[in-house]
Amino acid sequence: MEKTDKVTIPRILKMKKEGKKIAALTAYDATMAAIEDEAGMDIILVGDSAGMVIAGDADTISISLDEMVYMTKWVRKGVKRALLVGDMPFGSYQASSEQAVESAIRFMKEARAEAVKLEGGRAHTGTIEKMTAYGIPVMGHLGLTPQSVNLFGGYPLRGKSRDEADRIFEDAQLLEQAGVFAIVLEKITVELAQKISETLSIPTIGIASGPYCDGQILVAHDMLGLGPKFKFARRYLQGANVLRDAFEQYIQDIRSSDFPTEKESFHA
Ligand code: KIV
Repeated sequence: MEKTDKVTIPRILKMKKEGKKIAALTAYDATMAAIEDEAGMDIILVGDSAGMVIAGDADTISISLDEMVYMTKWVRKGVKRALLVGDMPFGSYQASSEQAVESAIRFMKEARAEAVKLEGGRAHTGTIEKMTAYGIPVMGHLGLTPQSVNLFGGYPLRGKSRDEADRIFEDAQLLEQAGVFAIVLEKITVELAQKISETLSIPTIGIASGPYCDGQILVAHDMLGLGPKFKFARRYLQGANVLRDAFEQYIQDIRSSDFPTEKESFHA
């Protein structure tokens, strides 16, 4: 695919048919989004992981719909080619289908997201059917769904037991039937992710779910080495070290009067 071709949902579906892996990453501001877009990212997700990596919360529970829509507006300004997906935060879609539709419309009208993502399986199929019927493209999210952190008591691997694996597998099939165009599979076993990916005709986008998914997604801060190291998140930059070195050099240059120089100053 040419780097300049706009990524659309039909294109994402075609990539699965053609066996082309889908590259996805989160973004939370226009600057980072523009760099990801220029690099050729297929999907840019404004993830509610922002609650953790941007807002500094311990989980994704607190971030609000207003905050997510606002951030998606920023990201929109940096994205030209990638498919832009807004993440529906906790409390913005669980109460009713009407609430979900209203929240999703805010992402699309105010921030010009091209799709939204929501977490969960069979409990949401009625809502997803309505959303897609109204022209709202929906991405599913199964396995370790971080908004259920209080139910799970943390962030465990999911689908290890036969019963849990069967339930996640059925949920994936139900989400496809309800109309989602793709499903994020988070922290499930490699075997289960492979089975789901081989069974569904829509793409699976894995995170911590092994190599057999149709695409992969990471939180940008994790792959850039800006936060703690996770086994599943390959680091492409030691970002925290690079930034700390730059900050230290800047401080040193100010203290030593090395910055600014004549070349970096203006005269009348
Ligand atoms: O919020 C997020 O960043 C996500 C990705 C990890 C898939 O949901």
